[in-house]
Amino acid sequence: MGYTREVLEREKRAVGSISQIRFYPAVIEKAGGAYVYDAAGRKLLDFNAAWAVANTGYGHKRVIEAFLREYSKLTALSYTSFSSKTVVSLAERLLGLVADGDGKKVIFGHSGSDANDSIAKILPACTGRPRILSFIGSYHGQTMGSYSISGHKAQSGIVGLPNVVKVPYPYGYRCPFKGVAGQPECEEACIGFLEDYIFNTIAPPETVSVIIVEPLQSDAGDIIPTPRFLRELERIARKHGIYLAVDEVKVGMGRTGRMFAFEHSGIAPDIIVLGKPLASGLPLSAVIMPSELADCNKVMHLFTLSPHPAIAAAALATIDVIEGEDLVGNAERTGKYMLEGLRKLEREKSIVGEVRGLGLIAGIEVVKDKESREPGARETAKIVYRAWELGLVTAYTGLYSNVIELTPPLIIGGREVDEALGILDKAIDDVEKGRVPDSAIKDYVGW
Ligand SMILES: Cc1ncc(COP(=O)(O)O)c(C=O)c1O
Repeated sequence: MGYTREVLEREKRAVGSISQIRFYPAVIEKAGGAYVYDAAGRKLLDFNAAWAVANTGYGHKRVIEAFLREYSKLTALSYTSFSSKTVVSLAERLLGLVADGDGKKVIFGHSGSDANDSIAKILPACTGRPRILSFIGSYHGQTMGSYSISGHKAQSGIVGLPNVVKVPYPYGYRCPFKGVAGQPECEEACIGFLEDYIFNTIAPPETVSVIIVEPLQSDAGDIIPTPRFLRELERIARKHGIYLAVDEVKVGMGRTGRMFAFEHSGIAPDIIVLGKPLASGLPLSAVIMPSELADCNKVMHLFTLSPHPAIAAAALATIDVIEGEDLVGNAERTGKYMLEGLRKLEREKSIVGEVRGLGLIAGIEVVKDKESREPGARETAKIVYRAWELGLVTAYTGLYSNVIELTPPLIIGGREVDEALGILDKAIDDVEKGRVPDSAIKDYVGW
């Protein structure tokens, strides 16, 4: 523990905490498969996967080899001015993953934030329609454009661009419309509010260029709409000539048991935003968009170092692994098994209000008690902390910091699920029985 404390104390003096969300004193040294190893030499089962990045597991040989092969040939290239076959192949491969890839193109960047930033810049500029419609609760990133289109509570400290209109997302367990209970009912209320009220008042549809939506809102607390919600958004977008963009940065590339989460709804979005797991941990984002947008101007969205051909090679290998090892099918099957186990926790634990899951992303909504549904932020922080002590890596999300999120690598099976559920069961039990002191989480409540 001495080494861990020393690193964290030096960090406190040298690194800004404005770029951190911490849940326990973790210094990670190495990782393999679905496990990480901390500075104290402990082996921990990772159900966070670097925030849904390590979909192929840590240290996949095929990805490492692909990266090193390309990097040893070419350590630097600025794709802005020099082409690369590897990058072109990656763009073609990504277009091949969507049914309507013809007539579309790909643009690249480093992160989910800059990918969503492209929406904030390109759509109003290239359509002549100034407004952007996004959702309260959404998390699209931290650059000014992506921050502006986000609606997460943690991002309320900065006032963003004035052309963004944010509307309610159907959080069925806590519907923003008073008196409306249930997921489908909340969806109907949200759609009605957008169509009947917002469009007829502050944002006439002909002034809106794009609707950007997370197919499921992860950082807001893993809120999972029914397929009808996205279908309704698609209907509205088509009716008014508005582009529909889906942010698949966290839930794309197999996580939900489909290559892309929007596929559960059977829609065909115009724009698909990708990031996080795309290159198995190396910085890469991609936006698949109609050619008229991707070619609409020059020098509107470029970065000296993106995409790096070696990272593009890692992304191609990542897709090979996802497809070749059927990680999408595994996410569906193992995710169903995980959700069954979580439902048992929901039934048995007095402070678990609801569990929600789709493939290998799930949320456990923690409450003070099931009747009041009052969010249990302190309890959540304690469970996540205790689980860490017991050997499981998780994090929490939520508009009220009260949803434990599970996003394990997509390579896990029933054995890892059983191990994680066993630890969660014990951690929740310890918190219910008051065995985790307030002092343990004083630095870790809320984000
Ligand atoms: C849905 C979604 N979009 C965008 C982002 C931003 O990605 P990044 O942190 O890589 O910039 C995140 C990050 O958590 C996310 O969850």
